[in-house]
Amino acid sequence: MAKHDLDPNYLDPNYEPVVNHTENTPFHQVLSARMQRRTVMKGSVGAALASVMGLGLAGCGSDSNDSTTSSNVSSTDIGFRAVPTSTANEVVVPEGYSSEAFLPWGTPITGSYPAYKPDGTNTGAEQEQQMGMHHDGVHFFPIDLKAGGNSSSEGLLVMNHEYINQGALHANGATYVNDMRPADEVRKEIAAHGVSVVHIKRDTNGKWDIVFGSPFNRRITGNTEMDIRGPVRGYSKLITKYSPDATETRGTLNNCAMGPTPWGTYLAAEENWHGYFANGDATQPREQTRHGVGSSSRYDWELADSAADQYVRFNVSTIGATAADDYRNEANTYGYMVEIDPFTPESKPQKRTALGRFGHEGVIFAPAKEGEPVVCYSGDDSRFEYIYKFVSSKPYYAATAGGYLLDEGTLYVARFNDDGSGDWLSLDLDDADFAAKVAAAEGTQVGDVQFDGFENQADVLLNTRLAADIAGATPMDRPEWGAVDPNSGQVYFTLTNNSRRTEEQVNAANPNANNRTGHIIRWSEEGNDHTATSFDWDIFVFAGEQGTETVVDDEVIVSLTDDNIFNSPDGLWFDYNGRLWIQTDGSDAAPYQNNMMLAANPETREIKRFFVGPVGCEVTGVVSTPDVKTMFVNIQHPDGNWPDSSDPRPRDATVIVTKDDGGVIGA
Ligand code: FEO
Ligand code: CA
Ligand code: CA
Repeated sequence: MAKHDLDPNYLDPNYEPVVNHTENTPFHQVLSARMQRRTVMKGSVGAALASVMGLGLAGCGSDSNDSTTSSNVSSTDIGFRAVPTSTANEVVVPEGYSSEAFLPWGTPITGSYPAYKPDGTNTGAEQEQQMGMHHDGVHFFPIDLKAGGNSSSEGLLVMNHEYINQGALHANGATYVNDMRPADEVRKEIAAHGVSVVHIKRDTNGKWDIVFGSPFNRRITGNTEMDIRGPVRGYSKLITKYSPDATETRGTLNNCAMGPTPWGTYLAAEENWHGYFANGDATQPREQTRHGVGSSSRYDWELADSAADQYVRFNVSTIGATAADDYRNEANTYGYMVEIDPFTPESKPQKRTALGRFGHEGVIFAPAKEGEPVVCYSGDDSRFEYIYKFVSSKPYYAATAGGYLLDEGTLYVARFNDDGSGDWLSLDLDDADFAAKVAAAEGTQVGDVQFDGFENQADVLLNTRLAADIAGATPMDRPEWGAVDPNSGQVYFTLTNNSRRTEEQVNAANPNANNRTGHIIRWSEEGNDHTATSFDWDIFVFAGEQGTETVVDDEVIVSLTDDNIFNSPDGLWFDYNGRLWIQTDGSDAAPYQNNMMLAANPETREIKRFFVGPVGCEVTGVVSTPDVKTMFVNIQHPDGNWPDSSDPRPRDATVIVTKDDGGVIGA
């Protein structure tokens, strides 16, 4: 099979195909008398004025008693001096802070701990025992978490490896022999994806290192066996040769952000998984077209020169007599949130299908409350896609909580009304409103899909995007990470950019045509109850160049300066004291220069640049120890030879940031 029809955009690490061709806009909604607050973006140089009507947010009720991590610092003031933009091939942190690269790609972490070889000759089997590439979402689990502790000196650092740089991974980049790829190259590429669990500990000098030989050290890759859980488990459209009963699959891929659960496990998101599969059939099912699966794949794994079905499965064409004879359904086993229990090394990862199937960027849980449902939020990072919320049907009890809570519940999608209100629209066939919309849509064209109905709720979840189209959700400017303010309960989401939005397609929550710099939206659930079906939203800040203003009630709340210009917000995290950390994955041209991380005070909207990454990278993934005195920040796809100037290959790495006086970061 020759390499064919390669979409050149697949080589762009930020490629997001536009696959939502519905016309969901809230224009028809009548502005109500509730409209009280006006948030305006003003760009300085030639940027068109855009305005958004947003209702003032409800008062910030506190539920900080639910915070799982105690701290003696309650202020969210930003105490450091902002760092300038930078074009240096190094990490920049404020005066009084230090940084150090840690756990770069290729670091041996398990098995026989095979040494990293800077000439690219590590084998696939060796990569399976080393840190993967392209570090992304990351979380620190205190080692004593299960015993109720919150150690800040020892824990499990769990992180995603989103994708790979084939040029750096191999001695001579990706190679082809007679249009086929050497199988061990493909094995290595699959192994450089997935998740790493690393047991780390700080010595008495304050230096962090791997606990070698720890049973917790683990690699989960694009080939690890996993269970399908939730309503889609056993559904006929997931039958494969590997799993004729549609209950299992292998691997997790393109793991972008993540979310720690209230019971101490880790959910890895599957984001741009569509690019890993190739379908040569004349027509494709809606489960693939609505996501952009193409006739060729990003890395050509299906062209491995091996008949082993761990490679063959990436060809999702119809080949065999039935679905149990080929891998036509393999792509239907991807697009989920995957639960990993880092404290149980032998545990099998679980794909939690009740949270929907789409381009999951990550997930963020609301604070869990005893006896109440579990609630989490997840964005679908593609242009014009949506923000979702899952509410469990079973109540949370700390003593018995577990992944089963994610297997039954209601998936909602967000509609942001122009008057600053919002609604969570159920995607459950048992919901009368949704069932009526589905019935009305049957036989019609929904975007590019001729809609002929859903077989059952599993079919709805498998086609979550299509269900959300039908429900009438608001198409957003690429929802990336979410974060929940531990002090106010407000939910924040980054909307990274959307250069394809036209003047005709703007809505109040996404008010800028050709949105190249992005914004951050936030909302309060009605009654500060995360299970509510309505909310009030506003825009926290518009990103952009110097002079970009966020104006509320004719008052300039934020005017960006040299200290805080940024573009394309992506990573987002509230630390345990309530400071908001904003990471960027955008243009690294002037005036922004290298991608960065900023800190924000959610109350005052004061924002300061804290960190600038090396040349070519995005800054993505941030977490700290519970005392917020050690911060872990991931650097993905650096250019050149960062972090080791003597190594010809760039290596994605975690950066450890500490304050020289041992104090709280950001204070
Ligand atoms: Fe993987 Fe949407 O960033
Ligand atoms: Ca991201
Ligand atoms: Ca991004």
